[in-house]
Amino acid sequence: MTDRHVNAGDLKVSGYQTRGVQIAPSILSANFAELGRDIAAVERGGADLIHIDVMDGHFVPNITIGQPVVRAIKRIATCPLDVHLMIEEPDRYVDDFVSAGANMLSVHVEVSPYLHRTIALIKSRGVKAGAVLNPSTPVSAIEHIASELDFVLVMSVNPGFGGQAFIPQSLDKVRRVREVLNRAGSSAPIEIDGGIDALNAADAVAAGASILVAGNAIFATPDPEAATRALRAAVGSATGSHA
Ligand code: DX5
Ligand code: ZN
Repeated sequence: MTDRHVNAGDLKVSGYQTRGVQIAPSILSANFAELGRDIAAVERGGADLIHIDVMDGHFVPNITIGQPVVRAIKRIATCPLDVHLMIEEPDRYVDDFVSAGANMLSVHVEVSPYLHRTIALIKSRGVKAGAVLNPSTPVSAIEHIASELDFVLVMSVNPGFGGQAFIPQSLDKVRRVREVLNRAGSSAPIEIDGGIDALNAADAVAAGASILVAGNAIFATPDPEAATRALRAAVGSATGSHA
């Protein structure tokens, strides 16, 4: 039995009051020729955030979405945009993604040697700033900056592709990140990304995650609206304990 009495934190994005657990569909697995339709479907299904995976072909092997597409999504989405930068030298692109409409911007600690500076830059633009940990990156990487972070993203797969299998050790990682944040006096939420589905979502929440990213579990189904509802239903029992 896992302890559900964790401080899952709270996050306000541009006036949107969060619920206990936030569902963040990752459009990486959406139909890129029908992005407007797919985003509208998950918003009807109760999505809280739209997770956008930006990949540069250097930090990760894949190349995906850039600033013009984020700008186009901003025009049609009603949810805040959660932009996950899987790119080298993220500082160079912060202003581009802020002006494109990002509400949350996260950078990988593995490519951010001056993480305080990068996080301060993002926050100075009025956007929520997150640090991302790859599966093999130790939790200690954020220990000395924990109090500065608006959120922490724990990767539960190696970044680069949708549809990969969840790495079970990620649950312990989430617990340890929660401890580090609590010790720093921070109630910042933990986001978990990779291989999340209706079977493991409640475990992720029980470990201390309160923002659930899901790509394949939502968009690789015939009905993304229903899949979004199903994911929320899967954590329904956990939602109330994190007000
Ligand atoms: C992986 C991305 C994820 C991905 C999640 O590099 O950061 O956001 O889209 O997709 P699933 O849920 O299919 O693992
Ligand atoms: Zn992501």
